[in-house]
Amino acid sequence: MFLRNCWYVAGWSHHFPAGQAVARTLLGEPIVFYRQAAGTVAALEDRCCHRLAPLSKGRIEGNDLRCMYHGLKFAPSGACVEIPGQNVVPPQARVCAYPTVEQDSWVWLWMGDPALGDPALIPPALYHNDPEWWMQTGELAYEANYQLINDNLLDLAHLSYVHENTLGRNSMSWAESRPTITPIPRGLRIARWVVNNPSPAYLKMAGGISRVDMWASYDYMVPGIFLLHTKTYPVGTAAARGDMGPDPDAAPLTETTTSQAVTPIDERHTIYYYSGCLPKDIASAEDSRQQLALFERAFAEDNAMIEAQARVIARTPEPRMLGIRADHALNQFRRLMEQLIAAETSASAAPALEAAG
Ligand code: FES
Ligand SMILES: [Fe+2]
Repeated sequence: MFLRNCWYVAGWSHHFPAGQAVARTLLGEPIVFYRQAAGTVAALEDRCCHRLAPLSKGRIEGNDLRCMYHGLKFAPSGACVEIPGQNVVPPQARVCAYPTVEQDSWVWLWMGDPALGDPALIPPALYHNDPEWWMQTGELAYEANYQLINDNLLDLAHLSYVHENTLGRNSMSWAESRPTITPIPRGLRIARWVVNNPSPAYLKMAGGISRVDMWASYDYMVPGIFLLHTKTYPVGTAAARGDMGPDPDAAPLTETTTSQAVTPIDERHTIYYYSGCLPKDIASAEDSRQQLALFERAFAEDNAMIEAQARVIARTPEPRMLGIRADHALNQFRRLMEQLIAAETSASAAPALEAAG
């Protein structure tokens, strides 16, 4: 099951070059993206209403997209505006059109009720395109249900195990940390001190500091948007500040952000988009590239574990899982998704029931 009334990341802006119709599958549905004359991204059902040829094999003509099988032309609204050899275009000659927004170098797609697609619901990514920050981007395909990837990102205790030689830095600090979990609109805020943690190799710390207390706080929002900001301080800061978090007036030794998006292709496949951002006053362009290289190695570790987990689940007749303390956030997020999906399913069923009654 998928939540429809929310914004999904369909790709990085550079995945949608001008003059190119791009085919993507989201939530099991074929969609074609193309840029209109002024550069705005349009998204249509990738299935011509005539004989079901893919519109992604079509030709962009100004703001419109022409099917290159028999020439029907479609406007960004989804309406067919031309049928070669025919003067009348019947009103049912149309395909679905989806609202899009391009923001923070991501193209976002709304697959629910278009009237509810408020762009204000899009979570702002952290420091994307900020001239004072380096930004690197990547993506990774998964052969796994999107909820397993959400689960993984909602429990960062796994850093000490899945990523023991990369993000975990051979330390149990992540596994031993106790996050605070706070509900926020359409998501959760998860914050923790990671105490006496080795500092990352890609950042040269002033004075040769090798261990730090790290404040790691992230918002996790539907359908799977992860916005993490980490700040490091001298060892001892965590003990002094506790759950208050860092003193907002105390400058961190270093900080980093990453914004990530989990987008279902279908029930068994997912695509994952991620950035790595570093402030230019503490990091060089080379540091930023090294950070991305580390992310690529680490996310390959997640990918191997989660795909293997998905294969075990698929061949288990009645999969049952044992809850532990580290599951609190992922359980809360799964409940939130269930509630939102149930609410929109009953809302869309209500008019049909009224009509039947
Ligand atoms: S299938 Fe598209 S015009 Fe015929
Ligand atoms: Fe991971």
